Amino acid sequence: MYRHSAYPNGYASNKRDDGEPFSQYLHRFQPRQTHLHQRNRILKLLGLGCVLTFFGLLILHPSTRNHLPLLGVASPAVKHFEIETLRYYDLETVQGTSRGWEREERVLLCTPLRDAEEHLRMFFNHLRNFTYPHHLIDLAFLVSDSKDNTEGLLTQLLEELQADPDPKQPYGEISVIHKDFGQKVNQDVESRHGFAAQASRRKLMAQARNWLMYSALRPTHSWVYWRDADVETAPVTLIEDLMRHDKDVIVPNVWRPLPDWLGGEQPYDLNSWQESETALALAETLDEDAVIVEGYAEYATWRPHLAYLRDPYGDPDMEMEIDGVGGVSILAKARVFRAGVHFPAFSFEKHAETEGFGKMAKRMGFSVVGLPHYTVWHLYEPSEQDLQHMQEMEAERNSRAQEEKEREERMKRIKEEFKDPNSQWEKDKAGIAEKTRQEEKAAAEKKAAAKKKVAAETKEAAEKTAAEEKAEQGEQAGQKIQSPDTASTSEESVKVKRPLGKKASSD
Ligand SMILES: *[C@@H]1O[C@H](CO)[C@@H](O)[C@H](O)[C@H]1NC(C)=O
Repeated sequence: MYRHSAYPNGYASNKRDDGEPFSQYLHRFQPRQTHLHQRNRILKLLGLGCVLTFFGLLILHPSTRNHLPLLGVASPAVKHFEIETLRYYDLETVQGTSRGWEREERVLLCTPLRDAEEHLRMFFNHLRNFTYPHHLIDLAFLVSDSKDNTEGLLTQLLEELQADPDPKQPYGEISVIHKDFGQKVNQDVESRHGFAAQASRRKLMAQARNWLMYSALRPTHSWVYWRDADVETAPVTLIEDLMRHDKDVIVPNVWRPLPDWLGGEQPYDLNSWQESETALALAETLDEDAVIVEGYAEYATWRPHLAYLRDPYGDPDMEMEIDGVGGVSILAKARVFRAGVHFPAFSFEKHAETEGFGKMAKRMGFSVVGLPHYTVWHLYEPSEQDLQHMQEMEAERNSRAQEEKEREERMKRIKEEFKDPNSQWEKDKAGIAEKTRQEEKAAAEKKAAAKKKVAAETKEAAEKTAAEEKAEQGEQAGQKIQSPDTASTSEESVKVKRPLGKKASSD
């Protein structure tokens, strides 16, 4: 299959504005090529000069032939640069700093895609809006187990993006990687979020992330930014904002908007959390292959979740140390991956995928941080239940509108029919009105009488009760009254506050 589309534009990792044709850099990774080229040219000229001098000498002084072996010795430096396939990388220079955009640090943006056709245009709108210099960002997509036209649309959108006449739009190098994992779980919202499916689903996701990262990470990358395709709203300066913190691994808070009838908004990514004693004790009791997934009543971990600590007016720069991380939007230094941290597709400390990644990074001494008051909004996908409810609401709205219409028509008809003021109807109307007034008056009198009676009875009863109570109190005087357990309630109320059974997700 023809897999290499030639983009008319783009910025390779070694490409600066040096006026060389772009096509030369499209498919081959050739860092420092510009330097090599210049050096090669100089060397070739020097070589040509030497050869000419040599033949000149031979003609003029045949005795020079005796010195031939000496001339055959080339300097080691020349040999070094004559190896066409040699690449030299200094990893000391790509460790990642807080102001990467000023130091021209390259970012690898990784996005796993599965049946993501409907979200791709939105994702590319985000790409266009990123303020981190696009020529410093290389894109990597993994397309797996897709039944829709994810790959076709992806190619089309990439071509459009890279051909954009605005020189600030085209990105760096692009990798589209295809790999199926034989997804056993259905992709609809219910099966994806069901508890039983979580462990195996997360392990497959972990494999997908590893395939993508190991295939696309180059020695020129200082940072790796993981971004899901179904993010709806995010600050355009997100990469710089996260980078400024200069952490090894950092994530924002991820919420999702909801329809008004569901409360307007909701924490979405429950995979960013701090470890708790309860969860550690729970982990001890589990089988060695077990994977704890957050946000399900089956595993009550009582961990502090980044999501629930959000204050819309809080300081967006506030940091919180976390252990598990969610995968919607992760910025990590490339050195974390180079050091061997990955997304475990097995139970690592009873966790897999991004949560396992956070734990592993922490275990290797890297800093793992979340920003509770800096929020990214995930797309809201209604569940089956929500859809049904919405349908019911729609039906109700329609029937109410229909009723309203019918009532209006009836009124119109009545008005038209009885327009004549001298008609019998007017007289009848007056008669009816008078009769109604009388009836109402009688009813009101009856009601007042009844009220009076009730008031009298109530007063009598109250007096009687007061007397009885007084007598009782007399009996109990001197006895100590114990109140039934009030101590345990405060603890319980704290627990009740935790919303459980919410959907955790990293996709
Ligand atoms: C990108 O920026 C434009 C202009 O500021 C804005 O209208 C649009 O909503 C943004 N797109 C996304 C996906 O954030």
